[in-house]
Amino acid sequence: APRRLWGGRFASGPADALAQLSVSVQFDWRLAPYDLLGSKAHARVLHRAGLLDDDELTRMLDALDGLAADVSSGAFRPTADDEDVHTALERGLLERLGALGGKLRAGRSRNDQVATDLRLYLRDAVRQLVARIAELETALVSLAERNADVPAPGMTHLQHAQPVLFAHQLLAHVHPLTRDVDRLRDWDARTAWSPLGAGALAGSSLPLDPEATARELGFRGAIPNSIDAVSDRDFVAEFLFVAALLGVHLSRLGEEVCLWATSEFSWVRLDDAFSTGSSIMPQKKNPDIAELARGKAGRLIGHVTGVLAMLKGLPLAYDRDMQEDKEPVFDAVEQLLLVLPALAGMVSTLQVNSERLEATTPTGHALATDVAEWLVRRGVPFRDAHEISGSLVQLCDTRGIELWQLEDADFTAVDARLDPSVRSVLSVRGALEARSAVGGTAPSRVAEQLAALAETATEH
Ligand code: ARG
Repeated sequence: APRRLWGGRFASGPADALAQLSVSVQFDWRLAPYDLLGSKAHARVLHRAGLLDDDELTRMLDALDGLAADVSSGAFRPTADDEDVHTALERGLLERLGALGGKLRAGRSRNDQVATDLRLYLRDAVRQLVARIAELETALVSLAERNADVPAPGMTHLQHAQPVLFAHQLLAHVHPLTRDVDRLRDWDARTAWSPLGAGALAGSSLPLDPEATARELGFRGAIPNSIDAVSDRDFVAEFLFVAALLGVHLSRLGEEVCLWATSEFSWVRLDDAFSTGSSIMPQKKNPDIAELARGKAGRLIGHVTGVLAMLKGLPLAYDRDMQEDKEPVFDAVEQLLLVLPALAGMVSTLQVNSERLEATTPTGHALATDVAEWLVRRGVPFRDAHEISGSLVQLCDTRGIELWQLEDADFTAVDARLDPSVRSVLSVRGALEARSAVGGTAPSRVAEQLAALAETATEH
């Protein structure tokens, strides 16, 4: 029969269908180390309340340490009969301590326990995620450093727009990641509050000390409302939003790498170790890491919407619906911990085809804005300058040439104000260097960004 923490008032055991539906140990076992930390803190509080004597406390803490070691070595595992992580661990304690093991549950409910466990698990997971994000930031920054002089066609609508430095484009993917790290740190400040002591929902009639357990577990303090303590899953929803947004950032990076690696773009070549082949087409070299990064964003978005929908109609305090919060959280963490290192490896081994980037940057009339702004500096209203430069583009298109291939006479034929010195702005270097205000793609500005982001990545 399934092992339960609640058999007393029931004449019969649960139906198989119920047991199979409600069992959560196959996924919540990940919480075991955190549940044991909470148990040690709770044992000390029971001792201070006079509910465990000195000898009982020592035996209890020893047993919990032994159990923790066996959990981490795999010597102690949940069985098919354990309903959830809390049930399995109580079984382990009873096996070691006999009746004394049954004293630990006093003043505690799975409702405050699971809320505490999940906060502890997720605070740890977020620290790991931040370290992996920092590695990806560093990989992008180093790639930008190694290609600091290489221009690229800057795009809007996926069409050549204006020249940029390739490093500028790469760093544009780093800034969102630094904001994601900021968001995770903000999240932690709100999550670092302890539900333990709330019991089922109303606190305990036993003289517990929620502030003491909070401190022992590394929280900033105890949550001031026991109903909120067991009902609040803001930290889950907020984490899943940040995870989804991070996923979207990784997806947009992945999409660009997929484009860059096409034979049509040919901006980059993927390293063999970070690309895959085809089972039928011998020539293929596929950007599967970038594609999986793009694909994972879908399920991460699904997790935040799924949890918000699960929470929206729930009356306070605890409802069993909330058990559905865990699989999305575990999956979000685990998927990101797979994707981030793979992306970092892919980025740090990318070979950049700088000749191709040099050659294609000014094509597609990408310097037309520079011609218009050259006219503006000579007093022509931008509205007219735009028209004049557009006429040049039209002329080029009819001849199948680029702006710099026009004859001097062609310029003046389009507009008398276009004397041949306009050629001075028909260079990629000139276009880049001219964009030297804060945020611009001028090499000096990009160098500043590189230095700042290299430092940020190290701090992360
Ligand atoms: N497995 C449950 C969860 O994840 C633990 C809390 C169960 N509480 C209860 N009252 N049935 O939410």
